[in-house]
Amino acid sequence: MSEIPTRTRVVIIGGGPAGSLLAHLLHVRGIDSVIVELRTRDHVLERVRAGVIEHESAEILRDSGVGKRMDAEGFVHEGVNLAHAGQMLRIDFQGLTGKHVTIYGQTELQKDLYDVIDADGVPLIDEAEGVRVGGIDGDSPMVGIDRHGQEHNIACDFVVGCDGAHGVSRDFIPPGARHSYERQYPFCWVGVLSETPPVDDELIYASHERGFALCSMRNEHRSRYYIQGPADTTLDDWPDDRFWSELTARLPETVADRLETGPSIEKIVTPLRSWVSEPLRHGRLFLAGDAAHVVPPTGAKGLNLAISDVVYLVDALAGHFDHGSMTGLDEYSGVAMARVWNAVRFSWWMTTMLHRFPGISDDFERRLQRAELDYLFGSENAQRAMAENYVGLPR
Ligand code: FAD
Ligand code: PHB
Repeated sequence: MSEIPTRTRVVIIGGGPAGSLLAHLLHVRGIDSVIVELRTRDHVLERVRAGVIEHESAEILRDSGVGKRMDAEGFVHEGVNLAHAGQMLRIDFQGLTGKHVTIYGQTELQKDLYDVIDADGVPLIDEAEGVRVGGIDGDSPMVGIDRHGQEHNIACDFVVGCDGAHGVSRDFIPPGARHSYERQYPFCWVGVLSETPPVDDELIYASHERGFALCSMRNEHRSRYYIQGPADTTLDDWPDDRFWSELTARLPETVADRLETGPSIEKIVTPLRSWVSEPLRHGRLFLAGDAAHVVPPTGAKGLNLAISDVVYLVDALAGHFDHGSMTGLDEYSGVAMARVWNAVRFSWWMTTMLHRFPGISDDFERRLQRAELDYLFGSENAQRAMAENYVGLPR
């Protein structure tokens, strides 16, 4: 752990992908920062989450010098597959949009980001508890933390909350000055990581009467699978055998026949929700990533939104430090939110189209879902709309 400075330009709360990328991109622009992170480094590095990196997100990482391992070890995917009613449809990203996505685990990206900020010399203060923020309505904010029983204060010009969905940064915005929007989905995902070869070269999203399933991967020997489960399910409900038999039942026969199963090396249950807190700024406090918005993972957008928020914010902060301009900072929330709401819309659309909604006895909803999928399967225009959103809209 680095020495705790008493002054810096930007204090970043949270050292996940948003916080560590922000620190690195600020460093590239000559702006110093300090990250205060609640957990230990190892804890942050072990979290298994996202896998899909949009076309432009990958370019941003590459251009800022964080893309070497991603390019060497990640997989370029030029399409994804949808399974529905016994049929498989390939959405041809490359053909429809000229773009692709990269499959590279968030765990690996987080390692790369920690390596680069260590090389940059950015102080990463881990095990920073009880974070508090003051002075954001004036010109000299202050961030306080407790570490191993000792209190520390860091003076700064700006504070950025990158502390994820369970963070505290947004609570420093007065309740009357922010608004939340939320949709809870009546199901969750059960996810398994296994040391087995992926069932396919590309991802498969399956809509099935028994519920949604997703086949993803990390590398040639490691697979990531998800199935939809009840909202109140727990890990204990999903011994490996039950998980594999449920997954097998939801995949087209040709895919299920070649599925290799094995012991899970990690298993999660994650609830699905869409949630947005607006605006992304109050005085000298800014929010980025999951600290301000969460989308269901079906559209693979959360990490990508964290990256795009950070890119907008770095430009705005550099505009301020280089030219004394507040324009970019004033516009940050509106610009970032336009992209966020589109991703909220896309993730909601994918989720609604592909999952089985329990308790809906109404055949009307089921018929609508089928009509949506039939339209997608039959229309190249509909496929292009899905492809351009999945690979990421231009910034
Ligand atoms: P986080 O990763 O949550 O990081 C926040 C950091 O802040 C953490 O390190 C936390 O310890 C720290 N922190 C919290 N509270 C405090 C505090 N009080 N003080 C200091 N530090 C604090 N996204 C995609 O783009 N593509 C995908 O394929 C994809 N798949 C996903 C699959 C699953 C199962 C899940 C759950 C998510 C998926 N996501 C995906 C979403 C993606 O993982 C998140 O959007 C991403 O982690 C957001 O990064 P972040 O840095 O904003 O927040
Ligand atoms: C993953 O590989 O973890 C993954 C892939 C696609 C998604 C969500 C998660 O939509």
